[in-house]
Amino acid sequence: MKKILVTGGAGYIGSHAVVELYQAGYQPVIVDDFSNSQESVLAGIEAILGTAVPFYRVDCADEAALRGVFAAEAGIAGVIHFAAFKAVGESVLKPLAYYRNNLDSLLALLAVMPEFGVKSLVFSSSCTVYGIPDALPVTEATPTKKATSPYGATKQMAEDILTDVAAAGGPRTILLRYFNPIGAHASARIGELPLGVPNNLVPFITQTAAGIREKLTINGSDYDTVDGTNVRDYIHVVDLAKAHVVAVRRLLDAVGADQVETFNVGTGHGNSVLEVVHAFEQASGQKLNYSLGPRRAGDVPAIYADATKAANVLGFKTETSLADSLASAWKWQQTLTDKK
Ligand code: UFG
Repeated sequence: MKKILVTGGAGYIGSHAVVELYQAGYQPVIVDDFSNSQESVLAGIEAILGTAVPFYRVDCADEAALRGVFAAEAGIAGVIHFAAFKAVGESVLKPLAYYRNNLDSLLALLAVMPEFGVKSLVFSSSCTVYGIPDALPVTEATPTKKATSPYGATKQMAEDILTDVAAAGGPRTILLRYFNPIGAHASARIGELPLGVPNNLVPFITQTAAGIREKLTINGSDYDTVDGTNVRDYIHVVDLAKAHVVAVRRLLDAVGADQVETFNVGTGHGNSVLEVVHAFEQASGQKLNYSLGPRRAGDVPAIYADATKAANVLGFKTETSLADSLASAWKWQQTLTDKK
Protein backbone atom coordinates (compact mmCIF):
# COMPACT_ATOMS: atom_id res chain seq x y z
CA MET A 1 0.00 0.00 0.00
CA LYS A 2 1.45 3.37 -0.97
CA LYS A 3 1.62 5.78 1.94
CA ILE A 4 -0.14 9.12 1.65
CA LEU A 5 0.48 11.76 4.29
CA VAL A 6 -2.77 13.58 5.03
CA THR A 7 -2.28 16.86 6.89
CA GLY A 8 -5.47 17.90 8.63
CA GLY A 9 -6.59 14.29 8.37
CA ALA A 10 -8.80 14.57 11.46
CA GLY A 11 -10.71 17.50 9.98
CA TYR A 12 -14.03 17.45 8.18
CA ILE A 13 -12.88 16.85 4.61
CA GLY A 14 -9.59 15.25 5.65
CA SER A 15 -11.24 12.48 7.68
CA HIS A 16 -13.51 11.53 4.78
CA ALA A 17 -10.51 11.53 2.42
CA VAL A 18 -8.60 9.23 4.80
CA VAL A 19 -11.46 6.72 4.63
CA GLU A 20 -11.70 6.87 0.83
CA LEU A 21 -7.91 6.59 0.41
CA TYR A 22 -7.73 3.48 2.56
CA GLN A 23 -10.68 1.90 0.80
CA ALA A 24 -8.99 2.62 -2.55
CA GLY A 25 -5.85 0.73 -1.47
CA TYR A 26 -3.65 3.51 -0.10
CA GLN A 27 -2.22 3.74 3.43
CA PRO A 28 -3.11 7.16 4.83
CA VAL A 29 -0.94 8.66 7.58
CA ILE A 30 -2.67 11.43 9.50
CA VAL A 31 -1.02 14.59 10.78
CA ASP A 32 -3.28 16.88 12.81
CA ASP A 33 -2.93 19.14 15.85
CA PHE A 34 -6.67 19.12 16.71
CA SER A 35 -6.75 22.90 16.49
CA ASN A 36 -10.08 22.62 14.68
CA SER A 37 -10.86 18.91 15.03
CA GLN A 38 -11.31 16.32 17.72
CA GLU A 39 -9.54 13.16 18.76
CA SER A 40 -12.83 11.22 18.57
CA VAL A 41 -12.61 11.47 14.77
CA LEU A 42 -9.77 8.92 14.85
CA ALA A 43 -12.08 6.42 16.55
CA GLY A 44 -14.76 7.14 13.93
CA ILE A 45 -12.29 6.42 11.13
CA GLU A 46 -11.17 3.22 12.87
CA ALA A 47 -14.77 2.08 13.28
CA ILE A 48 -15.43 2.51 9.55
CA LEU A 49 -12.18 0.91 8.37
CA GLY A 50 -11.85 -1.78 11.03
CA THR A 51 -8.26 -0.72 11.58
CA ALA A 52 -6.44 2.23 13.13
CA VAL A 53 -4.71 4.71 10.85
CA PRO A 54 -1.23 5.95 11.82
CA PHE A 55 -1.56 9.33 13.47
CA TYR A 56 0.85 12.09 14.55
CA ARG A 57 -0.24 15.00 16.71
CA VAL A 58 1.83 17.65 15.01
CA ASP A 59 1.32 21.26 13.96
CA CYS A 60 2.28 21.34 10.29
CA ALA A 61 3.84 24.75 10.67
CA ASP A 62 6.41 23.12 13.00
CA GLU A 63 8.97 22.16 10.37
CA ALA A 64 11.13 20.07 12.71
CA ALA A 65 8.15 18.07 13.95
CA LEU A 66 6.93 17.56 10.39
CA ARG A 67 10.40 16.34 9.40
CA GLY A 68 10.13 13.86 12.25
CA VAL A 69 6.94 12.42 10.76
CA PHE A 70 8.52 11.94 7.32
CA ALA A 71 11.53 10.31 9.00
CA ALA A 72 9.37 7.97 11.12
CA GLU A 73 7.15 6.98 8.17
CA ALA A 74 9.63 5.81 5.58
CA GLY A 75 8.44 5.80 1.98
CA ILE A 76 5.72 8.44 1.88
CA ALA A 77 4.65 8.55 -1.77
CA GLY A 78 2.52 11.67 -1.75
CA VAL A 79 0.88 14.32 0.39
CA ILE A 80 -2.61 15.78 0.61
CA HIS A 81 -2.42 19.11 2.40
CA PHE A 82 -5.71 19.96 4.11
CA ALA A 83 -4.38 21.50 7.32
CA ALA A 84 -5.46 25.15 7.42
CA PHE A 85 -7.72 27.60 9.20
CA LYS A 86 -10.93 28.01 7.18
CA ALA A 87 -13.42 30.40 8.75
CA VAL A 88 -13.98 33.37 6.47
CA GLY A 89 -15.35 35.73 9.16
CA GLU A 90 -12.67 34.84 11.70
CA SER A 91 -9.98 35.51 9.09
CA VAL A 92 -11.19 39.12 8.80
CA LEU A 93 -10.78 39.54 12.57
CA LYS A 94 -7.48 37.64 12.84
CA PRO A 95 -5.71 38.09 9.50
CA LEU A 96 -2.24 37.53 10.87
CA ALA A 97 -3.19 34.20 12.42
CA TYR A 98 -4.53 33.10 9.01
CA TYR A 99 -1.50 34.22 7.00
CA ARG A 100 0.82 32.70 9.59
CA ASN A 101 -0.87 29.35 9.95
CA ASN A 102 -1.96 28.73 6.37
CA LEU A 103 1.27 29.88 4.75
CA ASP A 104 3.75 28.64 7.37
CA SER A 105 2.33 25.11 7.20
CA LEU A 106 2.58 25.08 3.42
CA LEU A 107 6.12 26.45 3.44
CA ALA A 108 7.22 23.91 6.05
CA LEU A 109 5.75 21.10 3.97
CA LEU A 110 7.45 22.34 0.81
CA ALA A 111 10.77 22.52 2.67
CA VAL A 112 10.52 18.99 4.02
CA MET A 113 9.04 17.07 1.06
CA PRO A 114 12.18 17.25 -1.16
CA GLU A 115 14.39 16.11 1.73
CA PHE A 116 12.51 12.81 1.56
CA GLY A 117 12.12 12.70 -2.22
CA VAL A 118 8.32 13.18 -2.10
CA LYS A 119 7.22 14.53 -5.46
CA SER A 120 3.41 14.55 -5.41
CA LEU A 121 1.09 16.99 -3.69
CA VAL A 122 -2.66 17.59 -3.70
CA PHE A 123 -3.66 20.95 -2.26
CA SER A 124 -6.99 22.05 -0.76
CA SER A 125 -7.92 25.19 -2.59
CA SER A 126 -11.30 26.87 -2.73
CA CYS A 127 -13.72 28.51 -5.11
CA THR A 128 -13.10 31.58 -2.97
CA VAL A 129 -10.10 32.27 -5.26
CA TYR A 130 -12.57 33.44 -7.93
CA GLY A 131 -13.79 36.33 -5.74
CA ILE A 132 -17.04 37.72 -7.19
CA PRO A 133 -17.04 36.25 -10.69
CA ASP A 134 -18.34 38.17 -13.72
CA ALA A 135 -19.94 35.12 -15.31
CA LEU A 136 -21.31 31.77 -14.16
CA PRO A 137 -20.52 28.93 -13.96
CA VAL A 138 -16.83 29.44 -13.22
CA THR A 139 -14.28 27.38 -15.13
CA GLU A 140 -10.65 26.91 -14.11
CA ALA A 141 -9.83 29.58 -16.71
CA THR A 142 -12.09 32.16 -15.04
CA PRO A 143 -9.77 34.94 -13.87
CA THR A 144 -9.26 35.08 -10.12
CA LYS A 145 -10.30 38.37 -8.53
CA LYS A 146 -9.27 40.01 -5.31
CA ALA A 147 -10.23 37.66 -2.50
CA THR A 148 -13.06 38.83 -0.25
CA SER A 149 -11.27 37.72 2.95
CA PRO A 150 -7.78 37.03 4.33
CA TYR A 151 -8.74 33.35 4.29
CA GLY A 152 -9.36 33.58 0.54
CA ALA A 153 -6.12 35.49 0.10
CA THR A 154 -4.18 32.66 1.78
CA LYS A 155 -5.64 30.21 -0.76
CA GLN A 156 -4.66 32.47 -3.68
CA MET A 157 -1.15 32.95 -2.27
CA ALA A 158 -0.78 29.24 -1.66
CA GLU A 159 -1.74 28.51 -5.29
CA ASP A 160 0.89 31.02 -6.47
CA ILE A 161 3.57 29.61 -4.17
CA LEU A 162 2.85 26.05 -5.31
CA THR A 163 2.94 27.08 -8.96
CA ASP A 164 6.31 28.81 -8.57
CA VAL A 165 7.81 25.97 -6.54
CA ALA A 166 6.55 23.32 -8.98
CA ALA A 167 8.03 25.27 -11.91
CA ALA A 168 11.39 25.29 -10.13
CA GLY A 169 11.48 21.50 -9.83
CA GLY A 170 9.28 21.15 -6.73
CA PRO A 171 6.52 18.59 -6.32
CA ARG A 172 4.03 17.96 -9.07
CA THR A 173 0.85 19.53 -7.72
CA ILE A 174 -2.89 19.25 -8.20
CA LEU A 175 -4.89 22.21 -6.92
CA LEU A 176 -8.46 21.22 -6.07
CA ARG A 177 -10.81 24.18 -5.85
CA TYR A 178 -13.65 23.01 -3.65
CA PHE A 179 -17.13 24.40 -3.75
CA ASN A 180 -19.33 23.95 -0.64
CA PRO A 181 -18.86 20.57 1.04
CA ILE A 182 -21.84 19.27 3.03
CA GLY A 183 -23.13 16.05 4.58
CA ALA A 184 -21.44 13.20 6.36
CA HIS A 185 -20.25 9.63 5.87
CA ALA A 186 -23.14 7.17 5.32
CA SER A 187 -22.10 5.31 8.49
CA ALA A 188 -22.62 8.52 10.54
CA ARG A 189 -19.31 7.71 12.27
CA ILE A 190 -17.62 10.84 10.94
CA GLY A 191 -19.00 14.20 9.82
CA GLU A 192 -18.67 17.91 10.43
CA LEU A 193 -17.88 18.96 14.01
CA PRO A 194 -18.27 22.73 14.17
CA LEU A 195 -16.82 24.36 17.29
CA GLY A 196 -19.43 26.60 18.91
CA VAL A 197 -22.00 28.37 16.75
CA PRO A 198 -21.64 27.08 13.18
CA ASN A 199 -20.65 29.56 10.46
CA ASN A 200 -21.75 27.30 7.67
CA LEU A 201 -25.26 26.82 6.42
CA VAL A 202 -25.85 23.09 6.70
CA PRO A 203 -24.62 22.54 10.29
CA PHE A 204 -26.65 25.59 11.28
CA ILE A 205 -29.72 24.04 9.65
CA THR A 206 -29.23 20.64 11.30
CA GLN A 207 -28.57 22.19 14.72
CA THR A 208 -31.73 24.28 14.36
CA ALA A 209 -33.77 21.22 13.42
CA ALA A 210 -32.27 19.42 16.44
CA GLY A 211 -33.35 22.26 18.73
CA ILE A 212 -29.80 23.41 19.56
CA ARG A 213 -30.37 26.73 17.75
CA GLU A 214 -33.65 28.58 17.87
CA LYS A 215 -33.81 29.56 14.23
CA LEU A 216 -31.84 29.96 11.05
CA THR A 217 -31.40 33.48 9.76
CA ILE A 218 -30.99 33.61 5.99
CA ASN A 219 -28.29 36.11 5.13
CA GLY A 220 -29.97 38.33 2.59
CA SER A 221 -32.99 37.88 0.33
CA ASP A 222 -32.45 40.75 -2.12
CA TYR A 223 -29.71 39.29 -4.29
CA ASP A 224 -30.16 39.07 -8.04
CA THR A 225 -30.75 35.31 -7.94
CA VAL A 226 -33.63 32.92 -8.51
CA ASP A 227 -35.32 33.77 -5.17
CA GLY A 228 -33.13 36.57 -3.82
CA THR A 229 -30.91 34.31 -1.65
CA ASN A 230 -27.27 33.36 -2.33
CA VAL A 231 -26.50 30.55 -4.73
CA ARG A 232 -23.78 27.96 -4.02
CA ASP A 233 -22.65 24.61 -5.37
CA TYR A 234 -23.15 22.08 -2.55
CA ILE A 235 -21.06 18.92 -2.93
CA HIS A 236 -21.33 15.85 -0.73
CA VAL A 237 -18.18 15.48 1.36
CA VAL A 238 -17.66 11.84 0.31
CA ASP A 239 -17.81 12.85 -3.36
CA LEU A 240 -15.27 15.57 -2.60
CA ALA A 241 -13.10 13.06 -0.73
CA LYS A 242 -13.14 10.75 -3.76
CA ALA A 243 -11.78 13.56 -5.95
CA HIS A 244 -8.63 13.43 -3.81
CA VAL A 245 -8.19 9.72 -4.44
CA VAL A 246 -8.46 10.32 -8.18
CA ALA A 247 -5.96 13.19 -7.97
CA VAL A 248 -3.48 11.14 -5.91
CA ARG A 249 -3.74 8.25 -8.36
CA ARG A 250 -3.09 10.58 -11.29
CA LEU A 251 0.07 11.92 -9.64
CA LEU A 252 1.43 8.56 -8.48
CA ASP A 253 0.69 6.89 -11.80
CA ALA A 254 2.34 9.85 -13.58
CA VAL A 255 -0.67 10.45 -15.81
CA GLY A 256 -0.53 13.83 -17.58
CA ALA A 257 2.54 15.99 -17.98
CA ASP A 258 1.80 19.36 -16.40
CA GLN A 259 3.65 20.22 -13.20
CA VAL A 260 0.55 21.99 -11.86
CA GLU A 261 -3.05 21.24 -12.67
CA THR A 262 -6.14 22.96 -11.33
CA PHE A 263 -9.61 21.45 -11.04
CA ASN A 264 -12.93 22.73 -9.81
CA VAL A 265 -14.56 20.16 -7.56
CA GLY A 266 -18.28 20.81 -7.47
CA THR A 267 -21.50 19.34 -8.79
CA GLY A 268 -21.92 21.89 -11.56
CA HIS A 269 -25.30 22.94 -10.12
CA GLY A 270 -26.16 26.02 -8.09
CA ASN A 271 -28.79 26.01 -5.34
CA SER A 272 -30.14 28.98 -3.43
CA VAL A 273 -30.19 29.06 0.38
CA LEU A 274 -33.99 28.78 0.30
CA GLU A 275 -33.78 25.77 -2.01
CA VAL A 276 -31.41 24.10 0.45
CA VAL A 277 -33.76 24.87 3.35
CA HIS A 278 -36.73 23.35 1.51
CA ALA A 279 -34.71 20.35 0.32
CA PHE A 280 -33.66 19.77 3.94
CA GLU A 281 -37.27 19.93 5.13
CA GLN A 282 -38.23 17.33 2.54
CA ALA A 283 -35.25 15.06 3.17
CA SER A 284 -35.57 15.12 6.97
CA GLY A 285 -39.31 15.50 7.45
CA GLN A 286 -38.50 18.40 9.83
CA LYS A 287 -40.08 21.83 9.62
CA LEU A 288 -37.32 24.40 9.92
CA ASN A 289 -37.70 27.64 11.88
CA TYR A 290 -36.10 30.33 9.74
CA SER A 291 -36.41 33.99 8.87
CA LEU A 292 -35.01 36.30 6.22
CA GLY A 293 -32.28 38.58 7.57
CA PRO A 294 -29.79 41.13 6.27
CA ARG A 295 -26.88 40.35 3.97
CA ARG A 296 -23.68 38.95 5.53
CA ALA A 297 -20.56 40.99 4.79
CA GLY A 298 -18.26 39.38 2.26
CA ASP A 299 -20.78 36.95 0.75
CA VAL A 300 -20.47 36.35 -2.98
CA PRO A 301 -23.99 36.65 -4.50
CA ALA A 302 -23.77 33.45 -6.55
CA ILE A 303 -21.12 30.93 -7.52
CA TYR A 304 -21.18 27.41 -8.89
CA ALA A 305 -18.74 25.22 -10.76
CA ASP A 306 -18.30 24.29 -14.34
CA ALA A 307 -17.30 20.71 -13.53
CA THR A 308 -16.39 19.73 -17.10
CA LYS A 309 -12.61 19.67 -16.71
CA ALA A 310 -12.67 17.30 -13.72
CA ALA A 311 -15.06 15.05 -15.66
CA ASN A 312 -13.02 15.05 -18.87
CA VAL A 313 -9.50 14.94 -17.47
CA LEU A 314 -9.95 13.10 -14.15
CA GLY A 315 -13.08 11.12 -15.02
CA PHE A 316 -14.52 12.54 -11.79
CA LYS A 317 -18.24 13.10 -11.35
CA THR A 318 -20.25 13.63 -8.20
CA GLU A 319 -22.76 10.90 -7.34
CA THR A 320 -24.81 12.20 -4.42
CA SER A 321 -27.92 14.36 -4.82
CA LEU A 322 -28.59 17.43 -2.70
CA ALA A 323 -31.44 15.56 -0.97
CA ASP A 324 -29.21 12.60 -0.07
CA SER A 325 -26.41 14.93 1.06
CA LEU A 326 -28.80 16.74 3.38
CA ALA A 327 -30.25 13.45 4.65
CA SER A 328 -26.72 12.33 5.58
CA ALA A 329 -26.11 15.62 7.41
CA TRP A 330 -29.34 15.10 9.36
CA LYS A 331 -28.45 11.50 10.24
CA TRP A 332 -25.06 12.71 11.51
CA GLN A 333 -26.67 15.48 13.56
CA GLN A 334 -29.01 12.96 15.18
CA THR A 335 -26.02 10.77 16.09
CA LEU A 336 -24.33 13.77 17.72
CA THR A 337 -27.50 14.78 19.57
CA ASP A 338 -28.04 11.19 20.83
CA LYS A 339 -24.51 11.13 22.30
CA LYS A 340 -25.19 14.22 24.44
N1 UFG B 1 -26.00 31.22 5.28
C1 UFG B 1 -27.16 31.71 5.84
N2 UFG B 1 -27.34 31.59 7.18
C2 UFG B 1 -26.41 31.01 8.00
C3 UFG B 1 -25.22 30.49 7.40
C4 UFG B 1 -25.06 30.62 6.05
O1 UFG B 1 -28.02 32.26 5.14
O2 UFG B 1 -26.63 30.96 9.20
C5 UFG B 1 -25.80 31.36 3.84
C6 UFG B 1 -24.57 32.18 3.50
O3 UFG B 1 -24.85 33.57 3.56
C7 UFG B 1 -24.27 31.68 2.10
C8 UFG B 1 -24.70 30.20 2.16
O4 UFG B 1 -25.56 30.09 3.29
O5 UFG B 1 -25.07 32.32 1.18
C9 UFG B 1 -23.53 29.27 2.36
O6 UFG B 1 -22.77 29.76 3.46
P1 UFG B 1 -21.58 28.95 4.12
O7 UFG B 1 -21.06 29.78 5.23
O8 UFG B 1 -22.01 27.56 4.43
O9 UFG B 1 -20.53 28.83 2.95
P2 UFG B 1 -19.80 29.97 2.11
O10 UFG B 1 -20.29 29.83 0.72
O11 UFG B 1 -19.86 31.29 2.72
O12 UFG B 1 -18.30 29.53 2.33
C10 UFG B 1 -17.79 28.43 1.71
C11 UFG B 1 -16.67 27.80 2.54
C12 UFG B 1 -15.49 28.69 2.56
C13 UFG B 1 -15.13 29.19 1.19
C14 UFG B 1 -16.32 29.84 0.56
C15 UFG B 1 -16.05 30.33 -0.83
O13 UFG B 1 -17.10 27.55 3.87
O14 UFG B 1 -14.39 27.94 3.06
O15 UFG B 1 -17.35 28.88 0.48
O16 UFG B 1 -17.17 30.94 -1.38
F1 UFG B 1 -14.15 30.10 1.23
